[in-house]
Amino acid sequence: MNAIEIKNLTKTFGQKIAVDGLNMTVPVGAIYGFIGENGSGKSTTEKLICGLLVPDGGEIKLFGRDYTDQDVRAKIGVLIEQPGCFPNMSVWNNMMLQATNLSIKNPEEEVRKVLKIVRMEGSASNKFKNCSLGMKQRIGIAFALLGEPALLILDEPINGLDADGMRIMREVLVDITKNYNCTVLISSHILGELEKIASHYGIIRDGEMIKQMTAEELDKNCPTYVALKSKNMAQTKMLLEKKYSRIKEENEYLRVYDDVKAEEIVNYLYKNNIFVTEIKTDKISLEEYYIDLMKEAK
Ligand SMILES: Nc1ncnc2c1ncn2[C@@H]1O[C@H](COP(=O)(O)OP(=O)(O)O)[C@@H](O)[C@H]1O
Ligand SMILES: [Mg+2]
Repeated sequence: MNAIEIKNLTKTFGQKIAVDGLNMTVPVGAIYGFIGENGSGKSTTEKLICGLLVPDGGEIKLFGRDYTDQDVRAKIGVLIEQPGCFPNMSVWNNMMLQATNLSIKNPEEEVRKVLKIVRMEGSASNKFKNCSLGMKQRIGIAFALLGEPALLILDEPINGLDADGMRIMREVLVDITKNYNCTVLISSHILGELEKIASHYGIIRDGEMIKQMTAEELDKNCPTYVALKSKNMAQTKMLLEKKYSRIKEENEYLRVYDDVKAEEIVNYLYKNNIFVTEIKTDKISLEEYYIDLMKEAK
């Protein structure tokens, strides 16, 4: 079963085609990392899914039903812009107000529960205006979690967070999917962070989905390589190119993508009077994969 199934979605603003025949499949239980440059159509797609914008064409299904279906709409939690909070009110009172607006049955219990999920139970008496950006983002997620959603749609929730804020956010999102049976769609361009949590990826460019894959597929698509440094990089490069077929210079290292062991390369270079000063085996990251993919697509 898919939480989101989108076919051929289109949205234009005047002359601008923001979403251009987009397809997307988000399985239930996924943390789906939605990746793309600024202006590529991520927010527009998310607003279309939530019903905040009306599409020009295409189909959106949520949990197998049309996205306009009221029962299905009730299962969606959204954080697209900052939560509408009163700065001088406490976190608790802001949450209670929202829970009341949403006619949540046991508001106190529910607010306590969602604040616990976002690791804010100890800060409920803080005024909203005194909360850090990371806390504010998590309050936004707490808002979205009211009413026990089955799908959370989060637009760039890790933008601007410091390392600690990122770590907590990561824990919260994993917790939500694992323990609360919630599927998460999260847009971001901070690929290093996304890579630590996403189970699925979708890459959008100019309103089109150019690639969807699982974390396992990404792993397979990201080759390992041997990276090395020596005192004479120019000669090393020449020697490597004689023997191996896939050599690349990257961040002051020479990389060999051929299926070969590090020791073998060291020996080969040593025999040719080159001393390797540094060597490591590594794997290309989501970020590098993405950059290469963007280059190909152009
Ligand atoms: N309300 C709007 N009116 C006109 N153009 C818009 C509007 N919303 C978005 N756009 C345009 O649509 C494109 C996609 O925007 P958006 O979905 O916000 O991208 P992203 O979230 O990936 O940065 C951009 O070129 C943007 O300028
Ligand atoms: Mg956006």
